[in-house]
Amino acid sequence: MNATAATPTGTPPAYMFDNATDEAARQVELLADILDPHTTEVIDRIGVRPGWRALEIGPGRGTIAAQLARRVGPTGTVVTVDLDPRHVQPAPGVEIVTGDIRTVDLEPARFDLIHVRLVLMHLPDREEILARLVGLLKPGGVIVVSDWDCTWRDMLIDAPPSVRDAFAAFQTALTDIAQDHGVDPSWARTAPAAMRRAGLTDITATAYTPLCRGGEPGLLLHASNSRQREAALLAAGMTAADLETLRDGMTSPDTLGFAYLMFTTVGRRPGA
Ligand SMILES: C[S@@+](CC[C@H](N)C(=O)[O-])C[C@H]1O[C@@H](n2cnc3c(N)ncnc32)[C@H](O)[C@@H]1O
Repeated sequence: MNATAATPTGTPPAYMFDNATDEAARQVELLADILDPHTTEVIDRIGVRPGWRALEIGPGRGTIAAQLARRVGPTGTVVTVDLDPRHVQPAPGVEIVTGDIRTVDLEPARFDLIHVRLVLMHLPDREEILARLVGLLKPGGVIVVSDWDCTWRDMLIDAPPSVRDAFAAFQTALTDIAQDHGVDPSWARTAPAAMRRAGLTDITATAYTPLCRGGEPGLLLHASNSRQREAALLAAGMTAADLETLRDGMTSPDTLGFAYLMFTTVGRRPGA
């Protein structure tokens, strides 16, 4: 199936997950467990300073926003924007805004740092949004963009054939569903070129894919995603037995595999 830029009514397709579900609470918890060590290293390298103004789009559980608030201190600010921020844990110094990054009203050239993890891959108009985010950076400000590269799906390296088959069928079906919602599975590794087109400089990128055993967050995420999109996966031809095999495999300590491959790209707005 092909990526859809807009629905027949001209509106962009909806975000593929639903924060209103219990499984979404589990999902953002797992994402924080898998990814926060990596994001923390990236933020360490940037050297966030007291007094900085930071913006986070799609904060999930809010763990990175809370971390940024500790770093910028009482003289700085951290603003988060999410369509549905119900899972963001309130933290001192973090302002939670309910809104769509495509339309929310934010002052241009205000931010020293923008962090956006696992959001742009979902939005068909991601290059326009990237340009908008660049406009929100102060000259010299830094943007950090992280997304999964879902073109690499051969992540299991030790599992019984039945689990491998269920996993492969699941990855194919979920990617098709994602593309119907406007996801670009290959955006993450092309983000550096998009950043260059957006006028950013000092662009760097790193890849991150921790090795996991069944029962660890990097594999449990697949079980969680399979629960959140169960109806669509069944409609796409997966069986209840396939899903059970997948979930058993993701919890069995005998399974060994890599988490989804993440690319994190960092760029700087020229000037200052
Ligand atoms: C997959 S979650 C990622 C959460 C978090 N960034 C992380 O990596 O743990 C994506 C989040 O982005 C939010 N989101 C999706 N589209 C958005 C938009 N257009 N504007 C603001 N937030 C959006 C969703 O509501 C969801 O909370």
